Amino acid sequence: TAGKMAEEIGTEAYVVGGFVRDVLLTKTNFDLDLVVESDGIEFAKKLAKKMDGRAKYHRKFKTAVVILPDGQRVDVATARLEYYEYPAALPTVELSSIKMDLYRRDFTVNALAVHINPPSFGKLVDFFGSQRDLKDRTIRVLHALSFVEDPTRIMRAVRFEQRFNFRIGGQTLSLIKNALKLNLINKLSGYRLVHELKLILNEKAVFSSIKRLNELGVLEAVHPMLTLNSARTQVLAELEKVLSWYSMLYLEPPIAVWKTYFLGMCMGLSKAKMEQIYDRFNFSQSERREFVHLREAIFWAAGNIMNIKQDLKPSEIYEILHPVPLEGVLFIMARTKREAIKKYISQYLTSLRLMKIDVSGDDLKELGLIPSPQYAKLLKQTKLACLDGIIKGKNEQIDFLK
Ligand code: CTP
Repeated sequence: TAGKMAEEIGTEAYVVGGFVRDVLLTKTNFDLDLVVESDGIEFAKKLAKKMDGRAKYHRKFKTAVVILPDGQRVDVATARLEYYEYPAALPTVELSSIKMDLYRRDFTVNALAVHINPPSFGKLVDFFGSQRDLKDRTIRVLHALSFVEDPTRIMRAVRFEQRFNFRIGGQTLSLIKNALKLNLINKLSGYRLVHELKLILNEKAVFSSIKRLNELGVLEAVHPMLTLNSARTQVLAELEKVLSWYSMLYLEPPIAVWKTYFLGMCMGLSKAKMEQIYDRFNFSQSERREFVHLREAIFWAAGNIMNIKQDLKPSEIYEILHPVPLEGVLFIMARTKREAIKKYISQYLTSLRLMKIDVSGDDLKELGLIPSPQYAKLLKQTKLACLDGIIKGKNEQIDFLK
């Protein structure tokens, strides 16, 4: 439909970027990006109308997104030539053609387009040797100023390299090293930095990506205190195993994987040093508080669970681990070398944490107790007794409350 519409309006429309790359790599990708050689917003509005969808747009960037009735999102951009006011700034926008649009992109593997106007529907447009680089499994920039224009691309290069098991090309590697020498990473805002870091930490091959960032000197450039040491390396390797085990269980709620890795990357830093890291990443007050709490909870629980000499009852495991956010529990699991503790944590994650009791405040009311903070205490004691198997079933729980 979009192709036909483009033809009717007298413009050219292309599917571009990650979608095309992933089709050629036979990977699935549900993010459809269109580029049109006319006003993208007008195009998106028309497309939305034709397909009974909705269009949302961003005037400043001449981009829009069409949300189709089945929920599929289609991004529509105006083919553009970008001028960068100064390195690492956001681009200003001017109309131009598909070739310029592709040329301003990050890597050749992302600079492919497929023409969708009916006369040449499906024709692959490859100006810069993208197909060759896909075949050679190489990440290559399109021009020498790519990292100067946008230093986040250094992290993107690592992300794609590790995701597809490609290699960063020789010249591109030199350009990265140059960009690092020029301290271009310093110019990036904490916000953009943390955004890129999260993307990496939410990928599959996190451990190898962090090692690669370290090897290239990117971690050091972000903050010298983030360089890897052997303790961090060990924990990050173990975290990858623990997190992949946990993700295979499909438990609720899903966890923020990046936070767990972030803890590993910062392992060994004092509270005061962490403040410097939060500053570099421009964390908000609430994000800081969250990490401060997470680290304290881990410190407390890890201290308790590591100190145990005898076997722990389920209720004891529960009491130690329950105050810790799940990201922290998984971190403790990766950090300990003791198999017995790993087992306790696994038992907590897969069963103790999920156990529900059959009685509630309503039952206490029926027993004639006036609502008070005492309720929570009684229900908790019931829960702990159930965890240890001292009482079973609703009747025994009610008797216990009595
Ligand atoms: N892009 C760029 N420079 C950046 C970010 C993005 O040139 N710093 C370009 C890339 O060419 C990319 C397109 O914008 O293809 C869309 O960006 P994004 O959605 O981040 O990339 P995808 O390739 O779709 O990556 P992913 O598979 O991770 O979604």
